[in-house]
Amino acid sequence: MAFCSALLNGRFCSSRLSPLISERSLATSHHAAWYKESLEHPEEFWGRLARERLRWMKPFTNVMDCSLKDGHFRWFEGGKLNMSDNCLDRIVEKDPDRLALIWEKDEPGQQEYITYQELKNLTCRVANTLKSQGVKKGDVVAIYMPVSLEAAAVMLACTRIGAVHSVVFAGFSPTALKNRILDASAETVITTDEGVRGGKTIPLKQTVDAAVSDCPCVKRVLVATRTGADVAMKDGRDYKLDELMKGESPECPPEPMDSEDPLFMLYTSGSTGKPKGILHAHAGYMLYSGLTQQYVFDYKVGDIFACVADIGWITGHSHALYGPLINGGTSVLFESLPIYPDPGRYWEMVQRLKVTQIYLAPTSLRLLLKAGDSYVKKYDRSTLRTLGCVGEPLNDEAWRWYHKVVGEERCTVVDTWWQTETGGIMIAPRPSSSDSTPKAGYPMSPFFGIDPVLLDNNGKEITGNDVSGNLCIRNPWPSIARTIYGDHEKFLNTYFTNYPGYYFTGDGAYRDKDGHYKITGRIDDVINVKGHRIGTAEIESALDHDSRVAESAVVGYPHEIFGEGIYAYVILKDGVTDNEDDIKKDLVQLVKSQIGSFAAPQFILITPGLPKTRSGKIMRRILRKISANETEELGDITTLADPSVVETILTKHDSTT
Ligand code: WT7
Repeated sequence: MAFCSALLNGRFCSSRLSPLISERSLATSHHAAWYKESLEHPEEFWGRLARERLRWMKPFTNVMDCSLKDGHFRWFEGGKLNMSDNCLDRIVEKDPDRLALIWEKDEPGQQEYITYQELKNLTCRVANTLKSQGVKKGDVVAIYMPVSLEAAAVMLACTRIGAVHSVVFAGFSPTALKNRILDASAETVITTDEGVRGGKTIPLKQTVDAAVSDCPCVKRVLVATRTGADVAMKDGRDYKLDELMKGESPECPPEPMDSEDPLFMLYTSGSTGKPKGILHAHAGYMLYSGLTQQYVFDYKVGDIFACVADIGWITGHSHALYGPLINGGTSVLFESLPIYPDPGRYWEMVQRLKVTQIYLAPTSLRLLLKAGDSYVKKYDRSTLRTLGCVGEPLNDEAWRWYHKVVGEERCTVVDTWWQTETGGIMIAPRPSSSDSTPKAGYPMSPFFGIDPVLLDNNGKEITGNDVSGNLCIRNPWPSIARTIYGDHEKFLNTYFTNYPGYYFTGDGAYRDKDGHYKITGRIDDVINVKGHRIGTAEIESALDHDSRVAESAVVGYPHEIFGEGIYAYVILKDGVTDNEDDIKKDLVQLVKSQIGSFAAPQFILITPGLPKTRSGKIMRRILRKISANETEELGDITTLADPSVVETILTKHDSTT
């Protein structure tokens, strides 16, 4: 791949484009008025932004046709546009040499640059390759690739031809990958020979081989090159992407897509055992991801934005790739780990690449905080302006460290709350306020067009301030998920049935005396480990694959670094006499192979029974208290079928922790 030498010398000086937007300044002083307009006149508000910010091949005729009651969302109907046209061609026409992406490679101190022109050429060559391979508009393409320029081009190429990408985080196991490929009936899988992370190689192609051996739907596997390792290639199914691309043209006209055509799907966990393929649509996602990127992060053309999330998660989709590119910006793609080669990695990168905004996960911050300030202070961070985080509650200590040590009390900390399903940031300290320092641990205030409410368990709105409740959203917004792939019924049941007329987030929240929001955590059986969302039911069904396991119950518990840790209570079948430690080791391995390493329990407790009600329901509340060592506050256990089981579990818990 050819790279602009001027960029490699650090002399990035593109001729400045006027900003893509022409809307009046949404500066803070106008925020209240804009927010009010966004709620009171959503058609005008969103219609104007969509017309001004996006390039349409055909104008839309209807801004919105939405009903939260029916889980029905259609935005900008009648319009045609294309994601990659908006992300690439629009900029290339004015400023082809502008820097689009910087790939921060795992190898410390090494980066690669790609301009908008180069990224467009690469994207088109991949797009033409996909077409030559028979991939058509509407087909699902599974992507199992680490963070790289090729992965970005592959995602953009899918959008260029109207294929629906389904990126599967390259840390998922063969079984998890297989399930996602099968669920979407993907015919095409794109992967990389090997991944490189923290100096270690990861056999990605081998994982794909294991996954697709059980996927009759898969017709082709395209393999990009990272290490050049000699990987097994199956005749008639596997092809090297580089070789296929050799003869392909760097021109490929972008497919005109209907606003509501599916853009991508992304699997996420819920309270049932099966991950859900969340589907997003073209125009709404495009508008909202660019808008949040700009206003939450105070993002300007010429900034160097570093979202260190993997492209396998929604954060990577919206803020490593689409959000920055939609705004004609420069985005860093981070392949490595926060502690490789040492806990100074992020800050050394900030200095070397002159990063202006960084967006990361609280779990990494807690890890880095423990390593001490010297890893931060030895690097120049004067370019930084905004410090973002997402994925789990940012605790007070980590917030203060981020603000004081990393940001020298000069940068704005933006704790952003959102979800795979929301497609974009929903609650964040910016742009609503700029005069005061955001409150530690508070995502604070809703973004334009978002109307959060707190409901009690009966669906009644909890009004006023200094109150807690179930966090719901009262109004539709452009990037709300459109469905769960292949299961619209589940989509309706999960998000729109419990509280008719609202979108139910699954999170609890507290609204303080000033009306600012703090997220208190999931209220369903979903846990957040190291910023990864995982359903307890998924881990339980993985554990149940061991023929010695009769029953299991998994809960989360507070973990100093990970946010939440995974605690599994396991009942063995009668007559199993294997050594408990061996069983535990096997079970950890089992979860790794069924889901992925990040889902492996930190604790397994083998128990003869579980606390159950007389009707047989596991009282998870009690298990959560025990896991959290809050054993004094178990509450009423007399309603249990067998209260003595609690004593047994407690004794065992105390002796193993
Ligand atoms: C869940 C969504 C959206 C990108 C990353 C995760 C939790 C997210 C925050 C925050 C407290 C947060 C919620 C949410 N969450 N951001 N700032 N404070 N909790 O996306 O995997 O779809 O997970 O992450 O529980 O529901 P996801």
